Amino acid sequence: MRKIIIAGNWKMYKTISEAIELANGLKRELSSLDYAAVDVVLCPPYTALSEVSEVLSGTEIKLGAQDVYWEDEGAFTGEVSCPMLKDAGCTYVIIGHSERRQFFSETNETVNKKLKAILKHGLIPIVCVGETLAERERNETFKVLENQVKKSLAEISQSDIVKVIIAYEPVWAIGTGRTATPAQAEETQKYIRDLLSAVYNKTISESIRIQYGGSVKPENTTELMKQPDVDGALVGGASLKILSFADIIKQAGKVSKG
Ligand code: 13P
Repeated sequence: MRKIIIAGNWKMYKTISEAIELANGLKRELSSLDYAAVDVVLCPPYTALSEVSEVLSGTEIKLGAQDVYWEDEGAFTGEVSCPMLKDAGCTYVIIGHSERRQFFSETNETVNKKLKAILKHGLIPIVCVGETLAERERNETFKVLENQVKKSLAEISQSDIVKVIIAYEPVWAIGTGRTATPAQAEETQKYIRDLLSAVYNKTISESIRIQYGGSVKPENTTELMKQPDVDGALVGGASLKILSFADIIKQAGKVSKG
């Protein structure tokens, strides 16, 4: 049984005071909810990590970062390391987001280096993969995903791979309001799981959580979470609003996965 995981990727939104307000609001809203069946993660920008960590202390809500650099320390201006993220209170780290691939030269090879560092430091990686609209229209979705999954997850042992969370985020669904249909999400995520089964084995592939991301909102959460191979959501825009993110968690909590 895979526990549903709902993570909010705040992207480059929220000053420190705004982040504290949003985290406090969510904490308040969730305090009256039974969300024990769902792992909840907030990923604010780096500048707000410590403060949001303080807000979340004593709750079951976990903190995540939106990226990391693979070295522990050194002359790498502008970068942040795994030990620094742990120090700030993080448990999770998103890597390979399509916005990083598109705007900041992230490649499968750099994602793989980051993944190894994250696992070495005992953090939990959320590895993003997903095809562009042009790739989907050329019927290259599976080929693109095979390449991203195999290269991003290269040389990861059986005991480590089960700690990895994969987020399938079709680029054409991110921030566009155009969600993948539940059938599209299921078809693609089943493909990813089958791929993991071929690379590792069925038991391992069945234990790995695969999130869907791309215009997730309260109205489409239930149908997406009901899909057998959809084990959670990576939420952008709707995670910036207290009530919509809380509602997504509420809907997800009602879907029990076997
Ligand atoms: P939206 O939910 O705003 O489409 O963003 C998805 C995303 O990129 C989460 O990482």
